Amino acid sequence: MTDTEEETLERDLKCFFREAFEDIAQYATDPPDVQPLVDYFVNDGFMQPKLTEWKGYKMYGIGFNIDTIKWVYENWTPWKDDVIVASFQKTGTTWARYIVRQLYFRHDEKLMAMTKNMAMPTIYLETGLPVKFELLEKLPWKKRVLVTHVPTPLLNLEKIKSAGAKIICTIRNPKDLMVSWYHMTLKFPMNPKATKYFEMYPKDWNQFFDSCFAGKQLFGNKEGEWYMEHLLSWYPHRNDSNVLFVVYEDLIQYQEREIKRIADFLGVAVSDQDVSNITEETSFASLKEKSNASEKLVNFFRKGKVGDWKNYFTVAQSEKMDALVKEKLADTDIKFIYEL
Ligand code: A3P
Repeated sequence: MTDTEEETLERDLKCFFREAFEDIAQYATDPPDVQPLVDYFVNDGFMQPKLTEWKGYKMYGIGFNIDTIKWVYENWTPWKDDVIVASFQKTGTTWARYIVRQLYFRHDEKLMAMTKNMAMPTIYLETGLPVKFELLEKLPWKKRVLVTHVPTPLLNLEKIKSAGAKIICTIRNPKDLMVSWYHMTLKFPMNPKATKYFEMYPKDWNQFFDSCFAGKQLFGNKEGEWYMEHLLSWYPHRNDSNVLFVVYEDLIQYQEREIKRIADFLGVAVSDQDVSNITEETSFASLKEKSNASEKLVNFFRKGKVGDWKNYFTVAQSEKMDALVKEKLADTDIKFIYEL
């Protein structure tokens, strides 16, 4: 990459993140200056990705910042009607998020329009800098749909529960998840000079598999850990009164039933017609068509299928994953669905 190409990337990133934050800031009363957030994402996120660490958990680049989740743990209290989609990446987070948004705002065209860009990078508890919460505190709507990808030791679950906020945990089979994550990491607009990033997220599938499987991708995990440990951290909370587990493959097969289940969990009354409308509004085709700039940038709506892993996994990789699941999830009743 020449110096000019690097400058162009930096300029594009500045533009992208400024627009993303300003789009939300326009609705907030007396919003904070978003420039420090823009600078954090551009510099520490993508141009010269930074490593942060807390309690042995690590985050590297892409705007994810363990100092911010530590700040959240210690200082932040959600609103009563907030929903936090707490998931491992690529398990259907965005889909669940859009279902909740429909359930909360579908009768109000203005709110639907205003909340359209409540998305990446703003809504992840662990991204950017704590100043982001000054922005999120000043929004004019009463219910926020937020996201976190961190395991439970990094969240103050007691405080979240006593505030009245709800948590939706999405889960998905680890083979499709890994393929989906592979494609997304290829799309991140990372500075090509950030060699550590490309070691962590190789462009070659087989190398990517090894890196991901070995827990070398630092995205809020301890080294050597990834999805299994994340899931095991959430599993004991599956029956908490403010937690709902949603399985991606169930959403694919029984979308109406699952939407109704989410509505009941949130205490939102829905008619059969509402459920049918929300199913249509949150179908893969519809979400892809209406996706916003940040979702398009990293291809959030890629294929939306169960079983795409078969186009990538070798027999040996598939067997390795099966053995890992068997070993790690032996004491749970989780049974992943790998094909339909
Ligand atoms: P693929 O990459 O396999 O297509 P997350 O939001 O947690 O990052 O998850 C993204 C995955 O969910 C992507 O998987 C995306 O296509 C899929 N997805 C999002 N909306 C969907 C929908 N309405 N129907 C099916 N899959 C959906």
